[in-house]
Amino acid sequence: MRAFVVKEVEGSLHLGVEQREVKSTADTDLLITVEYSGVNFKDALVASIGGRVRRVPELVGGVDAAGVITSSTNDEWPVGTRVAVHGGDLGVARDGGFAQSVYVPAKFLSALPDSVSTRDAMIIGTAGFTAMASVLALEHHGLEPTGEVLVTGATGGVGSHAITFLSARGYLAVASTGSPAQSQWLTQRGAVRIIGRDEIADKPDRVLASERWSGAVDCVGGETLHHILRSLRYGAAVAASGLVASPELHTNVYPFITRAVSLLGIDAVEARDHTRRAVWQAIGEMAKTIDFEPLVDHVVRLEELPEALEKIRNAQTRGRILVQP
Ligand SMILES: NC(=O)c1ccc[n+]([C@@H]2O[C@H](COP(=O)([O-])OP(=O)(O)OC[C@H]3O[C@@H](n4cnc5c(N)ncnc54)[C@H](OP(=O)(O)O)[C@@H]3O)[C@@H](O)[C@H]2O)c1
Repeated sequence: MRAFVVKEVEGSLHLGVEQREVKSTADTDLLITVEYSGVNFKDALVASIGGRVRRVPELVGGVDAAGVITSSTNDEWPVGTRVAVHGGDLGVARDGGFAQSVYVPAKFLSALPDSVSTRDAMIIGTAGFTAMASVLALEHHGLEPTGEVLVTGATGGVGSHAITFLSARGYLAVASTGSPAQSQWLTQRGAVRIIGRDEIADKPDRVLASERWSGAVDCVGGETLHHILRSLRYGAAVAASGLVASPELHTNVYPFITRAVSLLGIDAVEARDHTRRAVWQAIGEMAKTIDFEPLVDHVVRLEELPEALEKIRNAQTRGRILVQP
């Protein structure tokens, strides 16, 4: 099979397509023929030199894949089942989805609802999964369709899906973006208002800012998350999943102890079975009414992955880059 390999040798990084034998390991009981994969910010971190995300010197990249089970020793997952594969150490410490086939353990699988094609599944991918997990967490916390919900990193994978899902569920999604040229596209995805990244910092000289947001989906972290916490309405919550600006969070306890706000952590990697099922079920419902195609930035072959990874690293994408191996 053909696969996109990330290799670090004596301090230098090699990226390229190789002919490889698809290998099973002791814990892999399923072989997936990959129809689509997608490019995530995390893939760009894996394909970086000296980063802490990739945990082995050499592997097939790709934290996401969707396809069909073509070999199985697990009765619960018969041959022919259409699945999305993501999470765990896929594409981080074991071979991932930038390949024609991949062996995986069953715990990384989600069966796709009938309404979701394998292409849709990778338009959604880990980013869309994270966005829906964020929306469900906010709803569980009590989000109501009154007031505005802030979405940061709006043109990215998590952000653009969050806007699409929030809007489809009747919420007023406000998009924060560093890419004002994409305002029209964000409006078409369902954003009711577009603001710049710097507009999130309201009254920075005061301990608390004005109560602006009924909820927020944040994949940016750092100062942005600090300012969101200061600007949430009484009792509201922010679902935090990312660190594109910074993994640091310097804040104070006032939003928590005087406005009863909540910081909800979102993790797609180790998401438990019940969470995976709930998220894909909610996505399946959305798929009956949403056309996901406008969220595709472009589709690449394995050979074109180095340019795609560079684009996502430099925030030059809009929505999702798909990979057709
Ligand atoms: N917790 C989890 O399980 C989980 C799962 C998936 C992703 N993530 C994390 O979520 C984040 C987003 O992932 P993604 O795949 O959506 O990435 P992405 O497609 O690259 O989107 C990130 C977006 O953030 C904005 N941005 C980029 N650099 C920024 C900066 N320095 N300051 C402020 N905004 C910036 C850009 O949008 P604008 O130009 O519109 O501002 C960019 O498109 C990443 O940190 C990723 O690791 C976490």
